[in-house]
Amino acid sequence: MNVLVTGGAGYIGSHTCVAAFAAGHEITVYDNFSNSSPEALERVARIAGKRPRLVEGDIGDRAAVHALLASEKFDAVIHFAGFKAVGESVSKPWEYYNNNVSGTLVLLDEMRRAGLRNMIFSSSATVYGNPDPKNLPLREDAPLSALNPYGQTKLWLEEIMRAMAAADPAWHILLLRYFNPVGAHESGLMGEDPAGIPNNLMPYITQVAVGRLPMLTIFGDDYPTPDGTCIRDYIHVCDLAEGHVAALDKVASLPGCTAVNLGSGNGISVAQLVASFEKAIGRPLPRKVGPRRPGDAAACWADPSRALELLGWKTRRDCDAMCRDAWRWQSMNPNGYRKA
Ligand code: NAD
Ligand code: UFG
Repeated sequence: MNVLVTGGAGYIGSHTCVAAFAAGHEITVYDNFSNSSPEALERVARIAGKRPRLVEGDIGDRAAVHALLASEKFDAVIHFAGFKAVGESVSKPWEYYNNNVSGTLVLLDEMRRAGLRNMIFSSSATVYGNPDPKNLPLREDAPLSALNPYGQTKLWLEEIMRAMAAADPAWHILLLRYFNPVGAHESGLMGEDPAGIPNNLMPYITQVAVGRLPMLTIFGDDYPTPDGTCIRDYIHVCDLAEGHVAALDKVASLPGCTAVNLGSGNGISVAQLVASFEKAIGRPLPRKVGPRRPGDAAACWADPSRALELLGWKTRRDCDAMCRDAWRWQSMNPNGYRKA
């Protein structure tokens, strides 16, 4: 298929480019590099032996999106482009609503004007809000809510796309709800490269291990979980990338708008992830236990059975592989894509 990948230079997008090339697809990346580096696409080319076509631009730039969709015929769009930092969304709500919601509205409008109605959208487990433990593992029909402007953008965009697909049966939309993507390509050439101090657990751990940060703080060990630390459904980014390839294979045969969890179905605690990482690096991490982080759910993991049923996809890589690959990336690239 000829695939347009918005945000294709980002963490999940770059890994998806490699997986999509391996499956024989053609790729055009559309990215404004607001949270990524062109170097990520160089690494894609090194791994895949093929370079995605790059069009630099913003999804909110209607003229540019129009010209892009007029320039060639795409079979599907994988839409990663957007801002994703929960804390920043609380301090900059307008920027999040504008970039994620307004930008996606422009993209959707230009897609329908171009007669392109196969859409694979990056949603998030954040749409389940702070899940009621009785709803675990989370199925796609669990109650939805937003806890912050970032989550609100995902929830609104899901609702907008559901309504558009209900009004026009030509749409084929997959809302992929990612759980916690971690890890890196096994070559160590591509991985997560957050700007500033990481908010998320795995990049924080790898930056402590490489000496960029002094110590990991575990946010709370008094949760009602077996070891007292929070439980999440971590998913290796290469499994996630393969989930997008499976979605490409199926999107044209799934009419309407369908939400699909992309998770492993296994809950892993913060303490277990840290232990697995310490095993991968062969030494203990400097760490301490601190207070709970406001807003954190005690536990959140997926029921991934719909992904297997509809997409024929499930995760293949375990927690040890996630830690090993995350560490290979960080140790080979202590400063991420930036030069030392
Ligand atoms: P990322 O920031 O690494 O990638 C996003 C890419 O989109 C970047 O390359 C950025 O430059 C680009 N971009 C942002 N706004 C743009 C715009 N207006 N026009 C063009 N390009 C733009 O993030 P990621 O981790 O790869 O996440 C990809 C998607 O998956 C996002 O929509 C995110 O909300 C969603 N998601 C991520 C996670 C996660 O933990 N990483 C979890 C759930 C959902
Ligand atoms: N944690 C620590 N120390 C840290 C960072 C995180 O103990 O320095 C803990 C958190 O308290 C939480 C767990 O590690 O218990 C995971 O935290 P992350 O920030 O890595 O991930 P979250 O589950 O909080 O959130 C992530 C994304 C959200 C997304 C959500 C569901 O950041 O955008 O997964 O997909 F909505």
